[in-house]
Amino acid sequence: MLNVLIAGASRGIGLGLARAYLEGGARVFAVARNPAASPGLKELAVQHGERLRVVTCDLNTVSAADEIVTALNGVRLDRAILNAGIYGPAAQDVATASEAEIGQLFFTNAISPLRLARTLHTRLARDAVLGVVSSEMGSLELSKGAESPLYAASKSALNSLLASWAAQLGKARDFTLLALHPGWVQTDMGGDKAPLTVEQSVPGLVAVVEAAAGTRDFRFVDYKGETVPW
Ligand SMILES: NC(=O)c1ccc[n+]([C@@H]2O[C@H](COP(=O)([O-])OP(=O)(O)OC[C@H]3O[C@@H](n4cnc5c(N)ncnc54)[C@H](OP(=O)(O)O)[C@@H]3O)[C@@H](O)[C@H]2O)c1
Repeated sequence: MLNVLIAGASRGIGLGLARAYLEGGARVFAVARNPAASPGLKELAVQHGERLRVVTCDLNTVSAADEIVTALNGVRLDRAILNAGIYGPAAQDVATASEAEIGQLFFTNAISPLRLARTLHTRLARDAVLGVVSSEMGSLELSKGAESPLYAASKSALNSLLASWAAQLGKARDFTLLALHPGWVQTDMGGDKAPLTVEQSVPGLVAVVEAAAGTRDFRFVDYKGETVPW
């Protein structure tokens, strides 16, 4: 049985990933900061019982990684998907966004995932995949951030930190490391004009993650398996 961790599993893409892995027979550690407020996680708990382990944790707290390792109770993870993210200030303007808003955006989207990844990689099983949900908005080459420059910059920062970490690990890295683009998806963040549903994006993401197991690749890849330029 695969042991899978989904960080940011209360709703949207993260909840969809938790559901998909549970339906595939995995044991899922679903990390959410307020699981009691997630009807989706409650429904999954009823449907899947013991195979769903809900871990209550705000990923921006200093102790988040240690709390998650404690909750794993020695279990080695075959897949860890760090999905939590925020859009940041609605105006997305460097001139008007507050220091606190920008700090929270970059901390949530770039710093916290790397902190968690760097702790969790010591808890991975053989042939594991560690995926971090980024966005094509973070691609410098594609430059798609005209309407969302702060959010795009936070995902560029995430990608940069991932690349630096991969370089630091070098040949010592014995797991697959993926920056994942889920497509533009109908969620609270993606809005209802998005062309994809969670039910369309998530099976693609799962297929990409599963195909990458054991490859030890480091890639920026979308839900269809296509490489996204950095
Ligand atoms: N939707 C899209 O079109 C799209 C496109 C490209 C990339 N993405 C990326 O995909 C990921 C998921 O997005 P989504 O569309 O599913 O967004 P969403 O519906 O807004 O869900 C965001 C998730 O992140 C969690 N989260 C945020 N900050 C957290 C924290 N400090 N601790 C714990 N959990 C936290 C939220 O938990 P709460 O319920 O507690 O707030 C929620 O579960 C994000 O990284 C996003 O940037 C989305």
